[in-house]
Amino acid sequence: METAEIARRFLSFFEKNGHTVVPSASLIAEDPTLLLVPAGMVPFKPYFLGQRTPPFETATSVQKCIRTKDIEEVGKTSRHATFFQMLGNFSFGAYFKEQAIPLAWELVTTPVADGGFGIDPERLWVTVYLDDDEAAAIWRDKVGVRPERIQRMGMEENYWSMGVPGPCGPCSEIFYDRGPEYGVEGGPEADENRYIEIWNLVFMQYERGEGGDKSGFPILGDLPKKNIDTGLGLERLAAVLQGVDNIYETDIIGRVLHRAAELAGVRYGDDHGQDVLLRVVADHVRSAVMLVGDGVKPGNEKAGYVLRRILRRSIRNMRLLSGTDTAYMHDLTAVSIDAMKDIYPDLADKADVIHGVIDTEEAGFADTLRSGTTLFTRAAERTRHAGGTVFSGSDAFQLHDTYGFPIDLTLEMAAEQGLTVDETAFRELMQRQKDTAKADAKAKKLGNADVSLYAQLLEGAGATDFLGYTDVLSESAVRGIVVGGVSSPAAREGEKVEIVLDRTPFYAESGGQLADTGTLTVEGRAVVDVEDVQKPLPGLFVHRGTVRAGEIAVDDTVHAAIDTGRRHAIERSHSATHLIHSALRNALGPSAGQAGSENSPGRLRFDFTADNALGESRLSEVEEEVNTVLSGDIAVRTEEKTLDEALKMGALAMFGEKYGDRVRVVEMSDYSVELCGGTHVPSTARLGIVKLLGESSTGSGVRRVEALVGVDAFRRLSKESALVGRISEQLKSPREELPERIDSVVSRLRAAEKEIERLRAAQVLQAAGSIAERARRHGPALVVAEQAPEGAGGDELRALAADVRGRLGEAEPAVVALTAVPKDRPVVVIAVNKAAQKAGIKAGDLVGVAARALGGGGGGKPDIAQGGGTDASKVDEALRAVEARVAGA
Ligand code: ALA
Repeated sequence: METAEIARRFLSFFEKNGHTVVPSASLIAEDPTLLLVPAGMVPFKPYFLGQRTPPFETATSVQKCIRTKDIEEVGKTSRHATFFQMLGNFSFGAYFKEQAIPLAWELVTTPVADGGFGIDPERLWVTVYLDDDEAAAIWRDKVGVRPERIQRMGMEENYWSMGVPGPCGPCSEIFYDRGPEYGVEGGPEADENRYIEIWNLVFMQYERGEGGDKSGFPILGDLPKKNIDTGLGLERLAAVLQGVDNIYETDIIGRVLHRAAELAGVRYGDDHGQDVLLRVVADHVRSAVMLVGDGVKPGNEKAGYVLRRILRRSIRNMRLLSGTDTAYMHDLTAVSIDAMKDIYPDLADKADVIHGVIDTEEAGFADTLRSGTTLFTRAAERTRHAGGTVFSGSDAFQLHDTYGFPIDLTLEMAAEQGLTVDETAFRELMQRQKDTAKADAKAKKLGNADVSLYAQLLEGAGATDFLGYTDVLSESAVRGIVVGGVSSPAAREGEKVEIVLDRTPFYAESGGQLADTGTLTVEGRAVVDVEDVQKPLPGLFVHRGTVRAGEIAVDDTVHAAIDTGRRHAIERSHSATHLIHSALRNALGPSAGQAGSENSPGRLRFDFTADNALGESRLSEVEEEVNTVLSGDIAVRTEEKTLDEALKMGALAMFGEKYGDRVRVVEMSDYSVELCGGTHVPSTARLGIVKLLGESSTGSGVRRVEALVGVDAFRRLSKESALVGRISEQLKSPREELPERIDSVVSRLRAAEKEIERLRAAQVLQAAGSIAERARRHGPALVVAEQAPEGAGGDELRALAADVRGRLGEAEPAVVALTAVPKDRPVVVIAVNKAAQKAGIKAGDLVGVAARALGGGGGGKPDIAQGGGTDASKVDEALRAVEARVAGA
């Protein structure tokens, strides 16, 4: 089945089931937490959160998506793409699991001739979230999936959110078994390559907070409604239905793949390495076309960088494949546009623009490669001559800075030559540059600088003498005042002001340490509240704040005083950061380089390079090591040295400060030795206690730990302890026994719920006999059409209908239509016997009739089908409509 046809069938299936078809939103996300749209639900997020009222209760779409987190996997696996299309159906409180699951199953398994995808149910497996018994029961009892085909998985796999605060919920996935030639038996939990995920059904019902991206985040509460968000990977399903090995060989992507092979003069399938390169080209060219089509231009950050990176990877792959530097992108772009324009007709209109952007980037990159490659080759030779295998960070930085070589390119080129790159050093240099740029940008944002104004101030006043390593107070002279972006002789009460002093105890934000706050007082005349201190130029300290009272003028003498409580809390964080850095290096080896940090009062954030998560147990080892070391009351010494001396001592270079000839070394015995311009506690015992708050990922290869220090850490522990105390009281169980106790309470609760379920079902079934007696003839069949007894839910309704049908026998056509209204939502189940089916009466049709009357939709098999709606007052009408339809059959 062609990709375009799969999309058409999906939309029309859900349209038939009452969903509004919504066109794909642009790849450029409106959502500020995202660069590009990674999932079909993004345009609907405000509806899930209840921030906006949806204009429809249910919707269906084919959404363009970009995901680059797994860019390294593209081409190597059968299923990773940077651009893909997500087919989805969405319910904003209209229906939930009990309809979403059967609907998905129906579409996937309905024969091709009847409008479905015709997948043999024997090929399908499903997963549900650990404790989602409800979903498991629906799969088992309503859909009929064998229990051994239903697997339970944890948060990483079966709990979905956008990776950031927002809507979330447990999910359930449908997997397709590609057969024993692709891997081992045992379902998706055994092998995700053999059992390929095709459809994710998310039961979106909670709101999550900050925390890990896939698991470990807090649940803040319920969403206003229980919603459905599903995502079926169009390309994956196309690979399955087209019987090809991977998504790159499907009808649309495959066209670019084969054209690329033709242009490069190679044969796809001859050589694994080449095949991977070709698949990457096929995927990336298409992603580039779609990004440019939505208005993204190549650039050095954000979406522009995503585009630049994938284009450059395609260009380099074509060079490697063909062994020439011919420009092939125009040709490949044309093929890709042509392949996609059936689904996205606008691409044809935009073809000229798309070609223009991609051709220009290709030409620019050719220049970059020409000039940068010389430098790269020379640096690589130098490295090898010196007997090394590590390409230096400063060469990588120069390539980036001067020739626009993204680090990924340098990494790839180095790897081709058997070299690694000192990424830590590279990132430090990048960070230094970024800090400078940030300071400029910040200055601009405050409306004040014009860097040239600061340059004048620096020239006039000279560099500020920083006293803050030893002093918290000073008598200083005002050397410059800036109000509203211009130099001013004075500033009056209420004005926002920037003040330059000859000397200051105020630490300016740098190296991850936040600025001091405090006051500048002109004896008897003025007070300025200092809210922030920045160094827009090296050596120039600018105190930003508000004149609280009086008037301050150039040449005034001020009494400068920092908020010492805040400073000390910041220092505790900064010293703790050094200890954590050392402990992490001890745990992970020297590759755990610093990649950024922020030291604020009582709280710190430390980013470091590492390929994998540290994991709970190593994290707590790090925490214990830090606390053991700090309780040793180690004196924190600082010394000025030449950079050479410092590095010989084994000092870790940190970024943030511009290193002059003399550098500052901060030592905590030989446990931690770092170059650092920040301020620190005199002795580690001052930290009191350090509590790590966990670990997360901030992007490829960079991990983040956060921690509380001192009294802030104590407060947290104390709060948690009180919480455990309360739970222990509520559960009447000693603290140590709480986990077992909670397990037992939860499992007893589950058992009790199951028992209630069973009793309720039994009660409902008891009514079967008397219901069957009320059957009346309508046209060709005996019909029972009535409301089920109180207390029936969807599951009981189905069992009851089947039971009543059994009692009516097979002697003549019989139809059972039962309704119930659990939780204010009417549900209808239709069961028809074989004789009725022979007479052309189908449960699926009848349920459609009933559900329409109820204001909803439904579906199922010819013998039993279920539907639902929104209007409980129409139950009788729906039942009468079923009778009338049967009478007319
Ligand atoms: N939003 C869900 C996903 O992207 C369906 O997998």
